[in-house]
Amino acid sequence: MILEPSSANIALAAEALRRGELVGMPTETVYGLAGAALDPTALARIFETKERPTFDPLIVHVERAARGLDKLAELRLIALETFSEQARKRAERLIAAFWPGPLTLVLPKSPSVPDLATSGLPSVGLRMPRHPVAQALLAAARMPLAAPSANRFGRISPTTARHVETELGDRIDFILDGGPCEIGLESTVLGVGADGTLTLLRPGAISRIELEQVAQAPVGSHAASHAGSAAAPAHAQTPAGLAAPGMTESHYAPSKTLLLLSNPAPLIDAAFLKSLPALRIGLLLMADASPEGHARLQSLARESGKEALNVRALSATGSLREIARNLFAGLRALDEGDSELLLCEPSPEGAHGLGHAIADRLRRASARRE
Ligand code: TXA
Ligand code: MG
Repeated sequence: MILEPSSANIALAAEALRRGELVGMPTETVYGLAGAALDPTALARIFETKERPTFDPLIVHVERAARGLDKLAELRLIALETFSEQARKRAERLIAAFWPGPLTLVLPKSPSVPDLATSGLPSVGLRMPRHPVAQALLAAARMPLAAPSANRFGRISPTTARHVETELGDRIDFILDGGPCEIGLESTVLGVGADGTLTLLRPGAISRIELEQVAQAPVGSHAASHAGSAAAPAHAQTPAGLAAPGMTESHYAPSKTLLLLSNPAPLIDAAFLKSLPALRIGLLLMADASPEGHARLQSLARESGKEALNVRALSATGSLREIARNLFAGLRALDEGDSELLLCEPSPEGAHGLGHAIADRLRRASARRE
């Protein structure tokens, strides 16, 4: 059931969470499937509902009042006594600059956090969402909430309440409607080791450069986020002893085959279209084409004997924010349509910042599944 986020409905959802039930929760990144973070039964329900393998750890969401390492230790989420001076300083700077917001910090965990939340890892992913409905729900529930993206495992992340209903509507009772997500891509995940080593575990809206400026320290890469297969988790260890399980190569995937183009749409020609083994093609553009551009694509499609070319643009002008916001909804819409094969233009400015995060999601969405 999709609920307006009135205070009565937020109270209802908070009560359900306190009973160990799950709630679809809007955040500024993507919608989450929330459950009590310190209750192993609720956590087990999250994995079961998502059909998620338990090697993939969850992100624990906290309310605004928890904005600082002492507060997180009071909530019995982190093992602050194991942090070096450097780890404390860097984590506090990052929290002060980016919380609430789209940054997950992976920190040495307290023994009170159930192994199920962290897949047995000695660290826990923590995030303070800035969406007002998420904050209201966290405050009403009076406890931290574990919330993975509210999609079935390996599928496209939801950015509207209706997407959550499509994915999990037959399995959960409450979905709070907070409107379309402002950012549209999952949070940046940054590992902070006990020694203060910083490792980028998942790219997101907050870029490596911003993280380095705020933390006043270098941010390393996690090699495993660029390797691995759909079936096996990437369990390689970083120097800080952090792993990034869950960053499997095939993720955010539509049910239809998605080909990531190496060139933008103006370079598509009839020979290429003709070589595709499908009659109805979906094409996702980063920026909308001109009327002449659209006409050219349609005439190429006819020339190459296709029945349909369904074109969808992720932004009017190529703005990275707009592309990120519309990416999952655009992929989902093409996937739900009658195209048999999907094509996608490459992300603009793929090398850094939000462009890097968009390129990462496109690469995973188009990875071959085994
Ligand atoms: O934006 C977001 O982060 C969304 C919203 C709902 O907050 N949540 C989300 O959760 O994307 P999920 O479960 O789809 O992504 C969790 C990922 C894991 O797959 C893993 O890559 C990383 O976060 N992660 C969590 N805890 C970790 C840990 N202890 N060590 C390493 N990576 C961790
Ligand atoms: Mg996810």
